[in-house]
Amino acid sequence: MNLKNQFLLDNKVTFLNHGSFGACPKVIFNEYQSWQKKLENQPVKFLDQFRDFGPNMTNVREALSKKINCNVNNLVPVVNATTGLNAIIKSLHFKKGDEVIMSNHEYGALEKTWQFIKTKYKIKITIAKVSLPITSEEKFIKDFEKKFSSKTKILFLSHITSPTALLFPIKKLVKIAKQHKIITIIDGAHAPGHIDLNLKNLNADFYSGNCHKWMMSPKGAAFMWSSSKYKNHLDPLIVSHGWNKKNNSTNQKGALGNSRFIDMFEYNGTKDPAAWLSVPASIKFINDKKNTKLLMTQSKVLYDFALKLSKTFRMPLLGDRKFLPPLMISVPIPKVKEIEFQRKLYQNYKIEIPIIPWENKSFARISYQLYNSFKDLKKLEYALKKLLI
Ligand SMILES: Cc1ncc(COP(=O)(O)O)c(C=O)c1O
Repeated sequence: MNLKNQFLLDNKVTFLNHGSFGACPKVIFNEYQSWQKKLENQPVKFLDQFRDFGPNMTNVREALSKKINCNVNNLVPVVNATTGLNAIIKSLHFKKGDEVIMSNHEYGALEKTWQFIKTKYKIKITIAKVSLPITSEEKFIKDFEKKFSSKTKILFLSHITSPTALLFPIKKLVKIAKQHKIITIIDGAHAPGHIDLNLKNLNADFYSGNCHKWMMSPKGAAFMWSSSKYKNHLDPLIVSHGWNKKNNSTNQKGALGNSRFIDMFEYNGTKDPAAWLSVPASIKFINDKKNTKLLMTQSKVLYDFALKLSKTFRMPLLGDRKFLPPLMISVPIPKVKEIEFQRKLYQNYKIEIPIIPWENKSFARISYQLYNSFKDLKKLEYALKKLLI
């Protein structure tokens, strides 16, 4: 059983790439459109901070903060994780020689953000090479700890990595880094809705995640979270009405001058907040017991398949099962010209899957969602064998 008819996806395509941009179920997409209709029905009332906008935005923060276990006042909407992480990174003060440590699995766009900071402030970026396959948390921690120095200011890490689809065991490492007075910034683009995310328990300094990937929200729904220690030191990427807002507190729900942090990110110019406002519908959808149960089955099917494929190509998976996220696995394949190969899979077999180059190796990153069935995996196996063996 799969739920493809509950999605808007093209039936002719074998869609194994949820990881890039997600896919939105019809029920959530309808909610999204109904918010857009409400906006156009009475734009002034809808976007008025003191009428609909403030209370509506706050309702979402309340629902999301419960889902990811964090304080509602430490969470703000952003359009994507890249934006949230940029806001954090560009707010920090650097001096020449400060050091940032990150892994060799980070996402290209964020590597560029750090290159920008490096050029601007003459900081040093140190790459910690993660030993593969990941089989123990202790070994993983050591790969980073041995790079810490008195100059280390930041530890920047993906929670779930993009090219290699690894679920990094970051909790203890975050704790150790903080003991060294290192600021921890977590790129959680792939985590919300994918793993049981608990920000209080993780206790990092900063976290940004997408709702439009594994929570299946419409595109443009994401959040940025800051610990209380730092939230009032952040600068907005966009300076607008929300900046330096005077307290004109009303009894209505919404920040409205009561929180510099929230105002700065919520009131930053005319925008369509419908994707963000649909997040509670996404939470309802992913919390539905039938869906949760099916996802657990999908996860097992994906892992067994990835393991079988890795045996076929005699190339081991990148980590033990607990270090692989439930619904996305990068399977190593024999070296190919990745762009060309990905195109071939689409043109010849109508399979949408990213073929990823990483450290001179090629990977097929398989996402397996509610709308996928084992037939999709068999089709992929057939095509890969035809093209590679
Ligand atoms: C690890 C990681 N970080 C950040 C991003 C960026 O996400 P977005 O484009 O939604 O900002 C991605 C996108 O796939 C990602 O995989």
